Amino acid sequence: MKYAHIIGWGKYVPDRVLTNHDLERMIETTDEWITRRTGIHERHIAGERETTATLAFEAAARALAVADLHPSQVELIIVATSTPEYIFPSTACRVQDYLGAIKAGAFDLSAACSGFVYGLDMAAQAIATGSVRNAIVIGAETMTRVLDWEDRGTCVLFGDGAGAVVLKGSNIPGGVLASTLRSDGSGGDLLSLPAVYHNPVPTLGPEYFHNGHKRNTIAMDGRQVFRFATQVIADSVHETLRKANMTLEDVDLIVPHQANTRIIEAAAKRLKLPQEMFYTNVQWMGNTSAASIPIALCDAVKDGRLQPDDNVIFVGFGGGLTWAASLVKWNVTPPDVSLPRREWRRARYVYARGRSKMKRYGRRFGAWIGGSPTPDASLKDGDKKSRENDL
Ligand code: ACO
Repeated sequence: MKYAHIIGWGKYVPDRVLTNHDLERMIETTDEWITRRTGIHERHIAGERETTATLAFEAAARALAVADLHPSQVELIIVATSTPEYIFPSTACRVQDYLGAIKAGAFDLSAACSGFVYGLDMAAQAIATGSVRNAIVIGAETMTRVLDWEDRGTCVLFGDGAGAVVLKGSNIPGGVLASTLRSDGSGGDLLSLPAVYHNPVPTLGPEYFHNGHKRNTIAMDGRQVFRFATQVIADSVHETLRKANMTLEDVDLIVPHQANTRIIEAAAKRLKLPQEMFYTNVQWMGNTSAASIPIALCDAVKDGRLQPDDNVIFVGFGGGLTWAASLVKWNVTPPDVSLPRREWRRARYVYARGRSKMKRYGRRFGAWIGGSPTPDASLKDGDKKSRENDL
């Protein structure tokens, strides 16, 4: 099972849409400025009850339906995200639980906007070595929860959403053919999102700032990131093609990270390729970081931009700095899953949630009978209650 083929894909974006005109009423900006500098018209915003994990679950469930794969057959779940609700449990573990994927390993991957391509390569390698037979790779983000809504230079750029693919091992040549993963930590200050270490000591209060920005919000040097992005898209595409013994002429479509249209236009120029070779949907999604490539892939399939035997390149770039490209032969036609079967799947997810709750209660009851403290006894009462409700 040397080759890891994409056999399923799915996306989920929240219903709520925030347009440039909405932003005009919130901050000092204009639809004209945002459209001209970024190409973005609108973005989706997660609802109060939605989290990175629930978006990821919806995308994964749709990808599994296309693949016609039962959740209990899934062996690996990778979630690329920069906006997990918890450091642990990982978002991937929560998705595993929601799906009822009882035989899957699960972990999160942190490589910012390159995360999905990193995850794709990790999963393809695990399949190629025989470690697993299949995997779900998800990019999921709630970026709008980590924005400084007073910083007009960043808050107009991002949106929320999730996209997923199912990979399956096969002896038929194709699938993920070659990848290039790169990083340059010296540019970490150009694009950052502080986490644990930068949480304020309580006495410092909310006025504690990091890098000139409010804590736990994105800080970015837009111009430097622009320069970096246009260069690494071209470099990583060339390098990946060289590894696969191919040239740009063999490529049918490039699905880049959807940061903004000007970066994509500049990269197309650098590669001397027509703009149409690059799929874009950033106009309607904004920058959804690790989710942007799988969401764009789903839209490209829906728009008929990918045909069997096409060669498609995914190319990501972002915080770290990180960048990555993957060349995929798109040669598996999905099975036609009937409506009753799809509905039956949804019922299984309700069952999976019920079973998970029963397991949790069972554990607590066992601890109570045994008289030993529950594993989370060390949490303060308030914390404990809110986490119980969350999880
Ligand atoms: N509305 C109106 N004016 C604005 C806004 C806004 N939303 N944001 C900034 N401005 C103003 C600035 O204050 C500045 O005004 P000044 O000249 O009076 O000081 C002026 O516009 C120019 O600001 P710059 O930041 O220099 O604008 P620039 O032309 O560089 O465009 C942008 C900013 C769009 C972010 C650009 O740098 C860019 O595309 N960078 C790429 C980075 C990117 O897309 N990152 C996405 C996340 S990272 C990733 O996904 C890898």
